[in-house]
Amino acid sequence: MPNSAAIILAAGLGTRMKSTLPKVMHPLAGRPMVNHVIANLQNAGISQLVCVVGPDMPGLEKTVAPHKTAIQADRLGTGHAVLAAKEAMAGFNGSILIAFGDTPLISEHTFKKMLEAGQSSDVVVLGFRPADPAAYGRLVVEDDGALSAIVEYKDATEDQRAINLCNSGVMCVNGAKLFGLLERITNDNAAGEYYLTDIVALARKDGLECRVVEGDEEELLGVNSRVELARAETIVQNQLRHQAMINGATLLDPSTTYFSFDTQLGKDVLVEPNVFFGPRVTVGDNVHIKAFSHLEDATVGNEVVMGPYARLRPGTDLKDKVKVGNFVEIKKALIEEGAKVNHLTYIGDARVGPNANIGAGTITCNYDGYFKYHTDIGADAFIGSNTALVAPVKVGDGANIGAGSVISKDVNNGDLGLTRSPQKNFKGWASKFRARKAQAKNKK
Ligand code: UD1
Ligand code: MG
Repeated sequence: MPNSAAIILAAGLGTRMKSTLPKVMHPLAGRPMVNHVIANLQNAGISQLVCVVGPDMPGLEKTVAPHKTAIQADRLGTGHAVLAAKEAMAGFNGSILIAFGDTPLISEHTFKKMLEAGQSSDVVVLGFRPADPAAYGRLVVEDDGALSAIVEYKDATEDQRAINLCNSGVMCVNGAKLFGLLERITNDNAAGEYYLTDIVALARKDGLECRVVEGDEEELLGVNSRVELARAETIVQNQLRHQAMINGATLLDPSTTYFSFDTQLGKDVLVEPNVFFGPRVTVGDNVHIKAFSHLEDATVGNEVVMGPYARLRPGTDLKDKVKVGNFVEIKKALIEEGAKVNHLTYIGDARVGPNANIGAGTITCNYDGYFKYHTDIGADAFIGSNTALVAPVKVGDGANIGAGSVISKDVNNGDLGLTRSPQKNFKGWASKFRARKAQAKNKK
């Protein structure tokens, strides 16, 4: 969209969240709410963006970076909040979209519609007809469809309260006019606040054109409490599930698959029930993810089979045809093509070479309480069950490790590493022991 910018209002305290985290930083599908708004505005084509934040929100400034922030020191209303962005928008004369940071579900498509309408009208308001108009501001529209004013619920007459066309809060305003209009609003109203909505009546007085674009109620859900946050999460998850299936994944029970905003699944991925994808997960084609697996910040190649109950932690890189079985945890490790880690194992800070086989109960001991160390396992190596690999340590290509070993020295290519003490058998010992004990018990 040529020459368009956005101001996101996010200075509100969000007291109903009962949280020390600013409201708009609460995540939806693994990403702060405000970043959903930013992403959709950017996809709609805006060229610059300012987020209005409170004076006590350093974390939020980082969250929206590299976008600019403007601080609203006193929270005197939505009109006052937009004015806080005046300096950051100096010299900008294109269309300015105003959005709320706590209304995260508005689509790129709806923002585009607003910008398009902004090409021919000075003020465009995104309206909607909620099932329950509650305390939303009401849009007063004339017979010819022109918007004449927005009346806040607190200030509305009975007749105005009967209007079911409501203000979503999103506006698109001619940037050459916006701040001049805002400087003329007063706080002479029921809330004693500077209402952004008052610019409509002022614009009409100046003979400017104001109109309404109607949006969908579900998209305009505002998040004020954790109950509404959960409602928004469900909506986003359903969108992500839908998209994953459209893109060629089978979800056996979609309502139990949890995605992040950036999860990428290939074609013919089969996801069994109760699987969680944290941020930064990419999965290749023909992958089978069995029930109760948890993945975050991980890359999964083609034809991988994992789970049930597999846990891929940050920095996991599974190459093609890898198998990761039940109760296996992998962290910051490269598992090369065709390697198998099938049961009850922890692999962290490691490389497992192609076609290596890791026996049940193998643990890479990567941490001494102070530092982390690397384990390197070569191609085709065979690690016997219940092995502790005390890092830093290296097991060569085609080497074997005997079951139950504690390996703290490197094992060369093709060698056997074994730390098991020699086995002793005692002829007839068990039979004699049992006979003696049984006799003692019978006497009692
Ligand atoms: C606002 C609209 C109302 C609309 C409703 C939709 C006004 C006057 N009213 O009312 O017509 O129906 O949204 O949800 O605009 N904020 C600041 N600084 C402030 C005040 C608010 O940054 O001083 C931010 C808040 O963080 C929030 C947004 O602006 O993101 C909206 O503020 P809020 O107080 O929720 O406005 P409403 O009373 O809901
Ligand atoms: Mg509100």
